[in-house]
Amino acid sequence: MKNFVVAIDGPAGSGKSSISKRIAKDRGFTHIDTGAMYRAITLEALRRKINLANEDEYTFLKNTSVIYKEGITYLNSEDVSKQIRTRNVTNNVSTTAKLKVVRDKMVDFQRESAKEGLILMDGRDIGTVVLPNADLKIFLTADPEIRAIRRCKENALAGIESDYEKILAEIKERDYKDSNREISPLKQADDAILVDTTSMSIEEVCNKIISLIDARL
Ligand code: DC
Repeated sequence: MKNFVVAIDGPAGSGKSSISKRIAKDRGFTHIDTGAMYRAITLEALRRKINLANEDEYTFLKNTSVIYKEGITYLNSEDVSKQIRTRNVTNNVSTTAKLKVVRDKMVDFQRESAKEGLILMDGRDIGTVVLPNADLKIFLTADPEIRAIRRCKENALAGIESDYEKILAEIKERDYKDSNREISPLKQADDAILVDTTSMSIEEVCNKIISLIDARL
């Protein structure tokens, strides 16, 4: 089977996940949400009550498997798709995701799952580190204020109340941590196409990316 890989990177709330899901469905790609994988490891670390910042305490990684398949995140075969979206996980994931021991394991999983077929992988370091030879690289971005409004709307749809100012502050903090960490920081790859979604609808962004995919396929 033909292997064609699209890497979509960008900051929190830039729309990577929802856009990737739609495009994958429309074009028959397998979507892999790598943020969900870091979230699953963070959930396990929180459950084990380890010191999240201490790499030496992540010994459980040896016997831990994380799989993202058809929109569901499995942690050792348990469906944790809901638990990984809690605020506790969201506010701690940057601490876990900056550790080398965690990244090495996740990058192995991610490369393995991109070996065959039509793949659309989203994250922070896909175009720069995980799949540097991707056939198409997109860097999605949007102003933090717009990203915070989108998060509030998503929460409202899920029946979760949200405080805009708090969410905006959390987004800015995560941007800072993700962009300034030592290993694989969030960064646009030299050969990635920048798509600023600040004043674009989901449909417009999807159409733009689909036309880029079609041009390369
Ligand atoms: O996309 P997200 O918000 O679900 O990602 C959760 C966290 O995981 C984010 O703060 C940074 C981290 N992450 C990462 O370091 N590398 C990736 N490829 C994907 C996510």
